[in-house]
Amino acid sequence: AWTMGSFLQAAVAEVRATIGAGRAICALSGGVDSAVAAALVHRAIGDRLTSVFVNHGLLRQGEPESVQEAFRHLGIPLVYVEAKERFLQKLAGVADPEAKRKIIGTEFIRVFEEEARRLGGADFLVQGTLYPDVVESGTATAAKIKSHHNVGGLPEDLQFKLVEPLRWLFKDEVRELGKELGLPEEIVWRQPFPGPGLAVRILGPVTEEKLALLRAADAIVTEEVKRAGLDRQVWQYFAVLPDIRSVGVMGDARTYAHAIAVRAVESQDGMTADWARLPYAVLERIATRIVREVPGVNRVVYDITSKPPATIEWE
Ligand code: XMP
Repeated sequence: AWTMGSFLQAAVAEVRATIGAGRAICALSGGVDSAVAAALVHRAIGDRLTSVFVNHGLLRQGEPESVQEAFRHLGIPLVYVEAKERFLQKLAGVADPEAKRKIIGTEFIRVFEEEARRLGGADFLVQGTLYPDVVESGTATAAKIKSHHNVGGLPEDLQFKLVEPLRWLFKDEVRELGKELGLPEEIVWRQPFPGPGLAVRILGPVTEEKLALLRAADAIVTEEVKRAGLDRQVWQYFAVLPDIRSVGVMGDARTYAHAIAVRAVESQDGMTADWARLPYAVLERIATRIVREVPGVNRVVYDITSKPPATIEWE
């Protein structure tokens, strides 16, 4: 019978055969996919794998710290690259969602190439691409929907050969594989997070100010969904910053400030999704806390569209 244990054995053997005596470099995003891919390849080729974590400045609150901590715990060496300024400069003034993805995807690969060179060269790039990513990016059957940067948005002059050991798996299987590899619960149960990060949750151009605002609102959504014990049932739950301001009132004064959209969905694989029926009490706590604790926000709305016709992310 097919088990995750036998999949792991076969995958490790395949990675060994592919990489041979070569060296690989791995792009860590902080999500479960890249972490599982890294752990699997590390098991296959040990320290001939270099795991690189690029902080593109588009991560959620506390994320760079928690990723570093988790890898320290796993005993997998991690190279941390601070690249916030680079990404924000390239993204300045860019509003088009696909343009943002392209810029981020391209810059990512550039940073990796630089790191790989600095670390003495690598022949292979490991990516945590899953089956739904392959399908949605149009390399398999379906029409192209979004150019997910870990598949479709790669630069043409890519210097690495790709290793994608998870490309036949769905998310629930990746979590199971992660457990098989001994990854901590904290990583295995991470909600999916897009490679381009908060850039595709800020509509319009990305700025430091908007990033700080979205991070603070998003941390409240995460905290309250966890506190309600719903974080393993709900597929994704997060805040979005639409490019709109609306009128509000505070004391005797009129305000004209940002709106935050809360998005929470149930899904099996991200390809289709249903909006999550979060309890009103949870939604109320989220809204109350966001307008009270996040300066510059005077309104919170809840997204009640499913996928299709909407997508999970707003961009
Ligand atoms: P959508 O928004 O297309 O998202 O319904 C489906 C799933 O994919 C994630 N997503 C991305 N992941 N790069 C990624 O690595 C991307 O550009 C990207 N866009 C969306 C999204 O969070 C959801 O889980």
